[in-house]
Amino acid sequence: MRIGVLTAGGDCPGLNAVIRSVVHRALVEHGDEVIGFEDGFKGLLEGRFRKLDLDAVSGILARGGTILGSARLERARLREACETAKDFSREYGIDALIPIGGEGTLTAARMLSEAGLPVVGVPKTIDNDISSTDRTFGFDTAVGVATEAIDRLKTTAESHQRVMVVEVMGRHAGWIALESGMAGGAHGICLPERAFDPADLVSMVEERFARGKKFAVICVAEGAHPAEGTMDYAKGAIDQFGHERFAGIGTKLAGELERRLGKEARPVILGHVQRGGTPTAYDRVLATRFGWHAVEAAHRGEFGMMTALRGTQITMVPLADAITELKRVPEDRMDEAESVF
Ligand code: F6P
Repeated sequence: MRIGVLTAGGDCPGLNAVIRSVVHRALVEHGDEVIGFEDGFKGLLEGRFRKLDLDAVSGILARGGTILGSARLERARLREACETAKDFSREYGIDALIPIGGEGTLTAARMLSEAGLPVVGVPKTIDNDISSTDRTFGFDTAVGVATEAIDRLKTTAESHQRVMVVEVMGRHAGWIALESGMAGGAHGICLPERAFDPADLVSMVEERFARGKKFAVICVAEGAHPAEGTMDYAKGAIDQFGHERFAGIGTKLAGELERRLGKEARPVILGHVQRGGTPTAYDRVLATRFGWHAVEAAHRGEFGMMTALRGTQITMVPLADAITELKRVPEDRMDEAESVF
């Protein structure tokens, strides 16, 4: 069998672990040939690929990023790209295509599958917002980075009696903010799922100071927003590359709190630090299991499917069901965090 693999969309710790796992399982167990397309679907459309043997994937398990490169494909180009991809895949003799990616990539994977390509998807995103899998790899790493940041910010905040507003990734779902906020013991957590009132954050900080605690850390997801009329804040816009960009809620909120509290507040935007570097053990294991199961699914001829974690088991779910809705933080998880939303 000739298997094509590609990584598309934003990068994510664990991508290399999937690539390595696909190559190991396919070559060693099945005697397949594996080729890797460079820079996501662009490589497929432009015929840029390389052969992946055991040497090519040696030493990449713990490496962040992706050895194949990644790129986002504009949605407007998707349908037209599908036709080209179909022609190219036939030309290269691809018996199975394994795209590893998030919402956009899985949408493209589904379209390719519907166009007749033998596709097995592997989900990835640090945001953990793909509804058909309990977890995506990359999330654990991102939460770890954000938690460490909160831990570190507490000591400097306390030394200077400041309010720290740490902005973490998460445009539509606040999983990273929720879990790093809980793990780091943030005093306020703001998520996209529930509009917050800055007045509640002000009260929380004042109460803390009244109790003799002279600092506070607030963890805010980049997609969090204040309730209508509570604060001057305009949500982001689409940039020239078609990406949704946010207006910097962390910076805006720190300014607002400083003004209302008359205390120093500092924004800390963690940004892509959360996506870089080595994946945690958990993410390496999940990514490796996804790669293994994707190859097995291809050999069973289970196309149009995606690997998913359900409980502790890896199962295959139809790509058609994979991205029908985003997995948002439910109410009960927000309540558990006992924070000011
Ligand atoms: O979807 C993953 C993600 O890291 C989001 O959390 C974040 O909003 C976005 O990608 C950032 O995208 P870019 O790398 O294009 O700035």
